[in-house]
Amino acid sequence: MIEKRRTFAIISHPDAGKTTLTEKLLLYSGAIQLAGSVKGKKTDKHAVSDWMEIEKQRGISVTSSVMQFEYNGCCINIIDTPGHQDFSEDTYRTLMAADSAVMVIDASKGVENQTKKLFKVCLLRDIPIFTFINKMDREAKSPYDLLEDIEDVLCIKTCPINWPIGCGKEFKGVYDRKKNEILAFTANNGQREVDTDELKIDDPDLDKKIGDDLAHTLRDDIELLDGAGDELNLDDVRHGRLTPVFFGSALTNFGVEPFLNEFINMTTPPLPRKTVDGEVDPFDDRFSAFVFKIQANMNKAHRDRIAFMRICSGKYEKAMEVYHVQGNKKMRLSQPQQLMAQDREVIDEAYAGDIIGVFDPGIFSIGDTVCSPNAKFKFEGIPTFAPEHFNKVRLKDTMKRKQFVKGITQIAQEGAIQIFRELDSGMEEVIVGVVGVLQFDVLEYRLKNEYGVDIIMEGLPYDRIRWIENEDLDPKTLDLASDTKRIEDLKGNHLLLFTSDWSISWATEHNKELILAEFGR
Ligand code: G4P
Repeated sequence: MIEKRRTFAIISHPDAGKTTLTEKLLLYSGAIQLAGSVKGKKTDKHAVSDWMEIEKQRGISVTSSVMQFEYNGCCINIIDTPGHQDFSEDTYRTLMAADSAVMVIDASKGVENQTKKLFKVCLLRDIPIFTFINKMDREAKSPYDLLEDIEDVLCIKTCPINWPIGCGKEFKGVYDRKKNEILAFTANNGQREVDTDELKIDDPDLDKKIGDDLAHTLRDDIELLDGAGDELNLDDVRHGRLTPVFFGSALTNFGVEPFLNEFINMTTPPLPRKTVDGEVDPFDDRFSAFVFKIQANMNKAHRDRIAFMRICSGKYEKAMEVYHVQGNKKMRLSQPQQLMAQDREVIDEAYAGDIIGVFDPGIFSIGDTVCSPNAKFKFEGIPTFAPEHFNKVRLKDTMKRKQFVKGITQIAQEGAIQIFRELDSGMEEVIVGVVGVLQFDVLEYRLKNEYGVDIIMEGLPYDRIRWIENEDLDPKTLDLASDTKRIEDLKGNHLLLFTSDWSISWATEHNKELILAEFGR
């Protein structure tokens, strides 16, 4: 069961083709009938995850959902990540739940900004990264430049598993380096089955079929790659030091199936996960999982909140009793669900590697562990990424204090925003930090629509935040530049807000004992 599981996230810069590739992968399982049903940007159908009005209004998809499908005896979990850059924090956490990542790159653009950011998180975890260079049916950069780009910008070795023959109108297909075969491309207007032709490299008709020039270039390229390229070292792949690279075109479904097959072979089943005092083996009988995402009010009619958990060991069974470590309580996980596109299916069992969404009465926070009562594992928390934008937020009508505090703390538990306050102050006025500014709009909208609270927001000049690592240091004793602000989070951790790197240096230079961290605990 567990050996057959693969759990991965797809990352890309918006528009590189993540959604299209996801749709095509799902087609191989027969999971969805119609390409486009995952997300029809330009139709009036809304994305599966477009659960919030604000997303609909803006036509963007900001949340991530999970899809499971069977393929060739394997059970594959794809964790979709939001493409909008303002929601990258959600993506960061999603990557914590994945065992590997597929990076989709637009062949005409190479590595783009958003990919760089997400990639950094993959590196933090050393997870395998597979690269799908998409849109070869369009004009593309030279494959050498693309590989160089990945190696230089992302500092990871590359090994092309196949090699493109031409691009755009001249795209003739890819050469499979393992099989020594050419998978020929015939444009087909985006239908499910592409007309592919397999051709041996020494086929006497090769020159005729792909043209003299391309055949000549291909032979030279193969010689060069075989002689000078990095070898495919699986150990390097599994530790995120080398990325296998595939060229293809998701829209025309070209190269997607070979990619899926190789991906399943090269990637690993769920691996042991770190806890604060060791590791948990996925084959351990005792159930364990951690919360990596909380999504509120997915279904407005029910005003529900779902905690998404990644199972790390054992088997989940219906109505099983578990122990919520952070809450120090035994509980039953109610209505565990798996999400398949728009439909939620109540499930009876799930295994290590799977993601389940359980009803959350408001007790879970991101990073929490649940496990069999006899296990008492505690997974290492999910790092909190440093927000870059800060607003002072206070409520308009002081009579609504209770709803305000409830709303803002629940939204913060979901991880979309982080809340802080000035030292020794209450909750009437808080400082909200976000990674992407759109979250401020979401916050305002949700507080009004879900909690009936109007707020007043005021921009703050800070854009850098550091956690004070020293446990016993009173921040009031620190010698700081005048534009540095002392704050605390709701757990009582002390932090500093800065407006420049200069003020950070000032702080560390004038307070020799001070230890600052970029990630929160
Ligand atoms: P994203 O999720 O990464 O944001 O990208 P998405 O799949 O939505 O793809 C972005 C655009 O690129 C879409 O076009 C999509 O059809 C196109 N695309 C994806 N893969 C390929 C490919 O292999 N070849 C070519 N030529 N185009 C590709 P759009 O015009 O923005 O939307 P739509 O009208 O096609 O839905």
